[in-house]
Amino acid sequence: MRPELKGHFGGSQNHKKSILLKKAGYEKKILAIYYSQTGQLKEIMEDFLQPFHQAGCHVETVSIEMQKPYPFPWTSERFFDAMPESVLGIPQPLQAFELQENKYDLIILGYQPWYLSPSIPTTALLKDPGFKAILKDTPVVTVIGGRNMWINSQEKVKRLLNEAKAILVGNVIRMDKNENLTSVVTILYWMLGGKKDRYLGIFPKPGVADADIYSTHIYGKLVLQALQANDYSGLQNNIIAAGGAFVQWNLMFIELRAKILFKVWASAIIKKKNRTLWLKFFKYYLMIALFVASPIVLLFYMILVRPFRLKAEKKQKQLFLDIK
Ligand SMILES: Cc1cc2nc3c(=O)[nH]c(=O)nc-3n(C[C@H](O)[C@H](O)[C@H](O)COP(=O)(O)O)c2cc1C
Repeated sequence: MRPELKGHFGGSQNHKKSILLKKAGYEKKILAIYYSQTGQLKEIMEDFLQPFHQAGCHVETVSIEMQKPYPFPWTSERFFDAMPESVLGIPQPLQAFELQENKYDLIILGYQPWYLSPSIPTTALLKDPGFKAILKDTPVVTVIGGRNMWINSQEKVKRLLNEAKAILVGNVIRMDKNENLTSVVTILYWMLGGKKDRYLGIFPKPGVADADIYSTHIYGKLVLQALQANDYSGLQNNIIAAGGAFVQWNLMFIELRAKILFKVWASAIIKKKNRTLWLKFFKYYLMIALFVASPIVLLFYMILVRPFRLKAEKKQKQLFLDIK
């Protein structure tokens, strides 16, 4: 749905004061826009925005909603049913939302990956013609809150931002840092059970650790400084140096292979009449791929191939960390 735009609000009467205020960032028009189903990304965004509020900036914050919401917790059927549209980037209708401006100095886009792709609400937002017009020529910082695989979804977001002629200036990631298979178990427990607590009292808490959620302001501060200086050239390097974006080789290895297989499954399932049955096959395939195939393949890769690919791996990591 197209966002309905209100008018452009004027600046200060006093020119000198206005310039000073603008320099400090108070008069900058900042939009923070995100979708959050469980509220995790909302918490991340709130923490990220703290330095802006402390500096007295007004940030227009918009939480987007779907016309047909994704209920939480998920049932297993609905959880896997989101795969084909997520992977193929097929948007679903958003609820109409109002923005106060038609041009911003900075847009902070919070999103989460679904099936190694931007979540369906995020795709819907980035493909919305009204929002695309607002993105045009505007610096954008992405804030991703996910399990642990964000590379491919960010590559897709980069493409969508590029199509809208937006300027990506920074990317902050907040991920679950537990071991991959542990986080598969805990996220399924959380998504399907609705409780963000310790499964069986043994597993770690699902999702992004509280310590990581509540340290996101560190990166918000870096973005604010870049906004105030009107210079984003060193921003992404500063975010990386402060630990706000990183790539783990083993997850990158899995993700780059899984994205191809997800595309094959999604393209096949979308055409099937008996979609529910095929999604069941996909579910079992995914569990076997994650818990059986990937640890074996990863072990062989680590021993036989990785030692000869360290330079290429470093280059590849940098490519994904980059905002280009
Ligand atoms: C259907 C679905 C698929 C997901 N796929 C991924 C994924 O591929 N990579 C990832 O890092 N996280 C994945 N997640 C976790 C989400 O990115 C996110 O962290 C979680 O849903 C909570 O986000 P929210 O409450 O802020 O919306 C997935 C979650 C859902 C519901």
